[in-house]
Formats: sequence, structure tokens, C-alpha cells
Amino acid sequence: MTVRKATGEEMLELWGYREPDAVSPTARFFYDNISSGNADFWATENDGILIGELYAFRDIPEDRDFADGKTTAYLCAFRVEKEYRGRGFGSRMMETVLADLKANGFRRVTIGVGPEEERNVRLYRRMGFTEKVKDCYVDPCAMDENMRPKKDECYWLLAKEL
Ligand SMILES: CC(C)(COP(=O)(O)OP(=O)(O)OC[C@H]1O[C@@H](n2cnc3c(N)ncnc32)[C@H](O)[C@@H]1OP(=O)(O)O)[C@@H](O)C(=O)NCCC(=O)NCCS
Repeated sequence: MTVRKATGEEMLELWGYREPDAVSPTARFFYDNISSGNADFWATENDGILIGELYAFRDIPEDRDFADGKTTAYLCAFRVEKEYRGRGFGSRMMETVLADLKANGFRRVTIGVGPEEERNVRLYRRMGFTEKVKDCYVDPCAMDENMRPKKDECYWLLAKEL
């Protein structure tokens, strides 16, 4: 099992797309941000297959409480394939990403979670995301057809100091 930075093309493949041209607005947003260097796609690879993903955005101009390009980064789309969950893969991936952000000068990291997602809330607390920044109603990384951030159910933006 290895944790490594992966490419935008690998993200599209993991999300089930075959070509960069025929993708959803959100996939396009992620692909463009990875390509420009504003986001890193971190993947967990097991026997040559990607089984986990976590994205670190350096800057979210839409809302700098999420990420400001210098000291605060935003993590999202944290997923491990179902059959591999609960075996420490997600925690290991998170540790690697936090260490990389710290080495690159970031001092604070944010992540979003739905208040009803009890297991995720518990996991993030355990990982040190103990500060609640605010309630959010827009997902700055989920785009509508006009490439505007989509409205979302209320979720919490949590933060951790590095
Ligand atoms: C959240 C997630 C990435 C964690 O990865 P993981 O490899 O399962 O995490 P770890 O094995 O390191 O840690 C296990 C902890 O994850 C949390 N967790 C959340 N959902 C889980 C699930 N379906 N199975 C196992 N653990 C889960 C729990 O807090 C668990 O700890 P617990 O056993 O004390 O309850 C993964 O469970 C997942 O992909 N969930 C579905 C997608 C999701 O909800 N992502 C987060 C919001 S974007």
C-alpha cells in the first residue's frame, strides 16, 4: 500500500470518465485545479489499483475561510473504497497529506462534514479537527452547469492547526 500524488487523468479514470472533454462540471473543476497546481490529488494505491482519494486545495477564492493560498488549505472528497474501509487506510492517507501541507508552509487545514455523519465527525475529531469554523450551505468544489458552486445541505467546516 502506498500513498502518492496522482494526476488529473487518474482522477477522471477513478471517477469513471474516459476523456477530459466529456466530464461533469465538478470533475472539470477538480481536473483544472489539479492541472494548474492549485490542488493535489492524493491517492492510496494497493496492488496497482487506486483504492483511496483525498484532495488538498491551496486556495478557494470563493471563500477564504476554506483555503487562502498561503497558510490554510482545504481537504475534500475523502474516500476509501468500501471493502477497504475501517482498516486504517484513510488515516494513513490523511497523515501523509497533513505532513506534506505542513512541509509546504501551511499552518491550518479545513475539512467539511455533515453534522449527521457521526462516524466521520468522530474520525475528524480524532484526527485533530476540533475547531468548528462555521455552518456552510454552499460546496465551493461542487459546480453547477454554469461552473458556479452548488448549494448544499448544512454542513460544518472544521479546522485543525498544523
Ligand atoms: C471516511 C473514510 C474516508 C475513512 O477511511 P477509512 O480507511 O475507513 O478510515 P480508517 O480505517 O483510517 O478509520 C476508521 C474510521 O473512519 C470512520 N468511518 C466513517 N465511515 C466509515 C465506514 N463506512 N467504515 C469504516 N469506518 C468509517 C470511523 O470513525 C472509523 O472509526 P471507528 O471504527 O472508530 O468508528 C471512509 O470511511 C469512506 O470512504 N467513507 C465514505 C465516504 C465519506 O463519508 N467520506 C467523508 C466525507 S467527504
